[in-house]
Amino acid sequence: MSDTPAHVRLDGHALTLVFACARDGAARLIHAGAKLPAGEDLAALDTAGARGRHENQPDVPPVAGLLPEAKHGLMTSPAVVLRRGGARLTTDLRLARWEATHEALTLTLRDEAAQIEAVLHWQIGAGDVVRCHTVLTNHGTAPLEIEQLASLALPVPARFTECTSYAGRWASELHEHRRTIAPDGLHRKSHGGKPGFDGGNWLLLHGPGQEVLGAHLAWSGDFITRLECDSAGAGDGTALLQLAASWQPGEIMLAPGASRATPPALFATADHRSALARAFHAHLRDDVLPVRKDWGPRKVHLNSWEALGFDLSEDKLIALAEDAARLGIERFVLDDGWFGGRRNDQTSLGDWLVSPDVFPNGLGPLIARVHALGMDFGLWVEPEMVSPDSDLYRQHPDWCLHAPGQERRTMRGQLALDMARTEVRTYLFERLDALLRENAIAYLKWDHNRDLFPSRPGQTDGFYALLDRLSAAHPKVEIESCSSGGGRIDFGVLSRVHRVWPSDNNDAIERLRIMRAWSQFLPLDVLGSHVGPSPNPITGRRLAMDFRAKVAIFGHMGVEADPARMTDKERATLAAHIALYKQWRGVLHSGALWRLAHPDPNVTGMMVTHMGRALALVAQTAFSPVFDAAPVRLAGLEPDARYRVTLPEPWPPRARHYLAAPEQWREGLVLSGTALMTQGLALPLTHPETAWLVVLERLPQ
Ligand code: DGJ
Repeated sequence: MSDTPAHVRLDGHALTLVFACARDGAARLIHAGAKLPAGEDLAALDTAGARGRHENQPDVPPVAGLLPEAKHGLMTSPAVVLRRGGARLTTDLRLARWEATHEALTLTLRDEAAQIEAVLHWQIGAGDVVRCHTVLTNHGTAPLEIEQLASLALPVPARFTECTSYAGRWASELHEHRRTIAPDGLHRKSHGGKPGFDGGNWLLLHGPGQEVLGAHLAWSGDFITRLECDSAGAGDGTALLQLAASWQPGEIMLAPGASRATPPALFATADHRSALARAFHAHLRDDVLPVRKDWGPRKVHLNSWEALGFDLSEDKLIALAEDAARLGIERFVLDDGWFGGRRNDQTSLGDWLVSPDVFPNGLGPLIARVHALGMDFGLWVEPEMVSPDSDLYRQHPDWCLHAPGQERRTMRGQLALDMARTEVRTYLFERLDALLRENAIAYLKWDHNRDLFPSRPGQTDGFYALLDRLSAAHPKVEIESCSSGGGRIDFGVLSRVHRVWPSDNNDAIERLRIMRAWSQFLPLDVLGSHVGPSPNPITGRRLAMDFRAKVAIFGHMGVEADPARMTDKERATLAAHIALYKQWRGVLHSGALWRLAHPDPNVTGMMVTHMGRALALVAQTAFSPVFDAAPVRLAGLEPDARYRVTLPEPWPPRARHYLAAPEQWREGLVLSGTALMTQGLALPLTHPETAWLVVLERLPQ
């Protein structure tokens, strides 16, 4: 029987978590939300939220605690499933001790009979984001298999009654689906060996008004997201959210004395979605991204993919680099096609040697020219893959994922390497390390264009091990995580890389939605955002350069098109926007993001504020049903401060004629924060594909 619980509180900036800890029993989370006053009576708080036993419960009502097990009549899916000798263990993990600091709690649970220990770590980090993980140790004398172990099992405060989950596909990532948290709950599980385009590793829960809770599993492999409505199994109405890595059978075997930590899961609550975005952004910037302070401003990229595809030669690339430099580009990225016999996507993955057909003198002359033009150099790689038509495959046909005796089915003409094998990782490290030592490469675009099948244990651990070893050897090389666009985006990979590629879709209308969706969790500094060609190769849509360029500014800007195929006017427009990006990236990449609301659902607005300066993007994608679209109301300003408001040029070609007082917009209007946030700005937003940038500068009092 457990003692009277002790109460422990953790405090963040505006958040308090309160736990009731019963020795030899369970730990319960009794408050997760607004910061409580210092003297709050935590025992009284516990009593105020407690329920008496009702008719249809076991005589001793089960307590789910923070690591629910299949015991005592608890009907929820267990957060921990273990096996020994092939048989499932019936565990009884009880709270043995806990240690707390102001913002972190460690709970040690033990099952003496099964000789298992589970340690739950809860920590309030930057942005008041709560970070949780579990470490399980096998103290027995026989091996122990972890079939499932949740990183987080969160009893959802009952005020959250709706959820937004995500769905998506290649080139159309992260569509929101909002619904009531219904009795059948939500069960998501990925199978492709990575989170995938549909963002099942991200979730929003909605409370009264605009209150929101965001949750995420920081893991680049398969995940399980489970929201179950009735954790006590007796209609008590409590929802339980579990986030866990989805491991293969037999993947996690603990020898006697061995431990395994889950990946972290994160959650945060906020008064509204903009505040939640800022919480995740602060957390990523301060607690997750590697050595951010050393990077300097995010350079403008030009990537060769949508300019040249596989049609590469030293001359063409040098011409492209020269055109790029004239636009103000700062980093030239050579995408796919530079190695082995890779003249199309059906060959040569794994042969990471510079192709003598394309570069008779190696990459040296191209890199020297790129440097002479004032840019640095980046290179595309896809290390975890192998083409059946490659020297690597011919030498090591057993290095790929395969089921013995079965057909090896390809995807995009390729197979995946078995990253759990040490010799595979050693080979890849040696090839990549040599490339980075032999060439002045500042940036790697690390791609991953195939689902992982047949599945094999250890892929994600192997991927992390390779990335970690390479980064340790080359700490100054920036890395982007790309997976045919946004197929592998999570805080696990982002603790190792510097940016992600949110989508292969550069169509600015699609990108607006995709960027808005990702920026719910990720700051603009890590979201690659490129100006693509027109017509767009994926959607076929033609969009004016002005619109494409304005949309691309709100991210880590780049160009993925051939300047030689643009008109002079387009090049001038693009160069002007690149200059604007350089002027404003300090704000965009350090500031606070605000999602702007507008009555027209086809108007997307975002703005970033930083130290009295702000830049907003307001974009209309459809033809407005009214001539005069509603004014855009800004956000995040100091109500009593006065701001100079300007519309930086170039202005959108058609809409500019509808501006009432162009000269005044050029010189600047001075308005209070209150006026800007309540009355707003009447921007011409009637025509489709119109975007405005708005600059705000706070004036001295
Ligand atoms: C998929 C990526 O998402 C593209 O940007 C490009 O790098 C291609 N792979 C190259 O094969």
